[in-house]
Amino acid sequence: MTVHLKEERVVLRRVGKINPEKIEEYLSTEGYQALGKVISEMKSVEIIEEIKLSGLRGRGGAGFPTGLKWDFVRKAAGNQKYIICNADESEPGAFKDRLVLENDPHSLIEAMAIAAYAVGATKGIIYIRGEYKKSQERMRLAIRQAYEHGYLGNRILGHEFQFDLQVHSGAGGYVCGEETALIESIEGKRAEPRRRPPYPTTSGLWGMPTLINNVETLANIPAILLKGADWYQTLGTVESKGTKVFTLLGAVNNKGYIEVPMGTTMREIIDEYAGGMLEESEFKLALTGGSSGSIVPVSLQDVPLAYEAYQEAGIFLGSGSLLICDQNTCIIDLLKVVFNFFKKESCGRCAPCRIGAKKGFEILNRISAGQGRSGDLETLEMFADQLREGANCGLGNAVGIPLTGGIKYFREEILTHIEERICMAQTCPVAKVEQPELV
Ligand SMILES: Cc1cc2nc3c(=O)[nH]c(=O)nc-3n(C[C@H](O)[C@H](O)[C@H](O)COP(=O)(O)O)c2cc1C
Repeated sequence: MTVHLKEERVVLRRVGKINPEKIEEYLSTEGYQALGKVISEMKSVEIIEEIKLSGLRGRGGAGFPTGLKWDFVRKAAGNQKYIICNADESEPGAFKDRLVLENDPHSLIEAMAIAAYAVGATKGIIYIRGEYKKSQERMRLAIRQAYEHGYLGNRILGHEFQFDLQVHSGAGGYVCGEETALIESIEGKRAEPRRRPPYPTTSGLWGMPTLINNVETLANIPAILLKGADWYQTLGTVESKGTKVFTLLGAVNNKGYIEVPMGTTMREIIDEYAGGMLEESEFKLALTGGSSGSIVPVSLQDVPLAYEAYQEAGIFLGSGSLLICDQNTCIIDLLKVVFNFFKKESCGRCAPCRIGAKKGFEILNRISAGQGRSGDLETLEMFADQLREGANCGLGNAVGIPLTGGIKYFREEILTHIEERICMAQTCPVAKVEQPELV
């Protein structure tokens, strides 16, 4: 995908510009300079202060302040500390992290070495989605090169600092991306989320303080430390600094990926970056964050894509995939796809998620087939509340989010399916029953 003139590339600055298999090309584009700078010039508290000042927040979905998390791990007691990069990326439609893993693997190694130095960790793991074979190969090659050049291992760059890094192949479930399930998986157990607290920052891998950050979060680190927090602060909004990588899918002309300043609106992304909606397509809604994000209707198109503005509007930014839907998308159809995903991915341990995802899918299927019953909407509403409030982990909570939005913004459309057995988008089987015959 060509770089759009208005794009601000920080995370993706080297994508397509260097050969990711050659460390020399990384080195010739300021590579490992941030690591050199922090090891020779900065104390760990100063590094963390700079990250705090930058305003960087986690790009894995929750938007937790990165500097604060690093500080928790630095202050936590423990002989052995770990750093984990969460590269599980199993969100449908998301491939933003893969772009970094495959096109700029050394930026991740550099960021993890800096993080290790800042929090006092000596061991790191990059947990990469099992299906991402090429990403794993690229990272392993880059790690070998980094050892050979003295950026990993003992006495890094001649200083009293040791950091060892390895790749761990993901166990193949969506829940593996949830940080505590991921830790269980590395420990060789079934990937089921742990109860929190304690949080991984104090009791993570093997019970030790562990820093877990997303790929995109980490990929920001070298640039922030080289150019300074002041520079980073100039990008984005008051409370959401920096840029965000989005993958674009659906009814737009230019699908693919973009990196834009935080605060860009959905309308701007579609009109200016994605080349507009497809011919004869009208924007109906966007689904943020793959399957576990929010539904953004026409009325919220101008809300800036930033943590605070989205929170105020009652929606979630998600980790970065945007599915743009037009008038030909039926809300029941869309929710069916989402529920089908979750009923397969639910680990089954807690009832709201196990039953809610399965029964919710059955009800949506029935409505879609023209067999909706009065009370179905209320049952779906009850499931949405129970999932959001009562599920054991973030996966279960996530199931309720698109359902809540679907009911809130497209209530009439759902009722038309149930009461009148009509699908305006004509994609549900119900529509075939109801369409007048052509003479
Ligand atoms: C079901 C589920 C799946 C998740 N998958 C991912 C993932 O693939 N990658 C990721 O970075 N975070 C994922 N997360 C969020 C992580 O638990 C965690 O918040 C994140 O890795 C922290 O990194 P950050 O502070 O840099 O955002 C997931 C959360 C849930 C509930």
